[in-house]
Amino acid sequence: MTYVSPSLLSADFANLQRDVEMLNESEADYMHIDVMDGVFVPNISFGFPVMKAIAKYAQKPLDVHLMIVDPQRYVSQVRDCGAAIMNVHQEACTHLDRTIQQIKQAGMKAAVTLNPATPVCMLEDVIHELDMVLLMSVNPGFAAQSFIEGTVAKLHRLRALIEQSGSKAVIEVDGGINAQTAPRVVEAGADILVAGSYVFSAQNPKEVISSLKSLQK
Ligand code: DX5
Ligand code: ZN
Repeated sequence: MTYVSPSLLSADFANLQRDVEMLNESEADYMHIDVMDGVFVPNISFGFPVMKAIAKYAQKPLDVHLMIVDPQRYVSQVRDCGAAIMNVHQEACTHLDRTIQQIKQAGMKAAVTLNPATPVCMLEDVIHELDMVLLMSVNPGFAAQSFIEGTVAKLHRLRALIEQSGSKAVIEVDGGINAQTAPRVVEAGADILVAGSYVFSAQNPKEVISSLKSLQK
């Protein structure tokens, strides 16, 4: 079975409560929350007040993806907004090991995200501490971009690193996930699929979520 984390970046922001309730009724395992600061990525999405509003209605754990510089500044705020998983970018953290400890001490699952250009070996010395690794399969900043093919080979390298190190980290993939790419990333080792535009532009988003969930390794 595959886990699914629909990204609310592609929700209708004028009807967020409706879209969160749709996800509550779906087979989604998480809700993926994309926070962008206009510095780390060339776009601004939404911040903590909106996350709090989502958390008020969400009945699934919040999988928070921070595309911001120096995310360690906000560990307790992210926790207080109801996050279950805090994803920080390796490229955004000078003292990544310390940030991972702070996230865990705050009671959240610690996840580190890699941009498409960042090799898997950058995680060698922290992989044993991680609950999750998020591989970006697009350059972060926007929904509805095309899947970067190199992600498939990268997934195999990450799976090998996790196995060699005895880490319990699960693998999440984010960007360009659809009916064509999802089976391929699952086969290559992905445990959790993030999907934004594929879910929210569908006629029947709940059916799309079920179809992603039913993918087998
Ligand atoms: C991209 C975000 C993604 C985005 C995915 O910067 O991190 O979570 O919402 O959107 P799709 O699934 O449309 O590529
Ligand atoms: Zn994301």
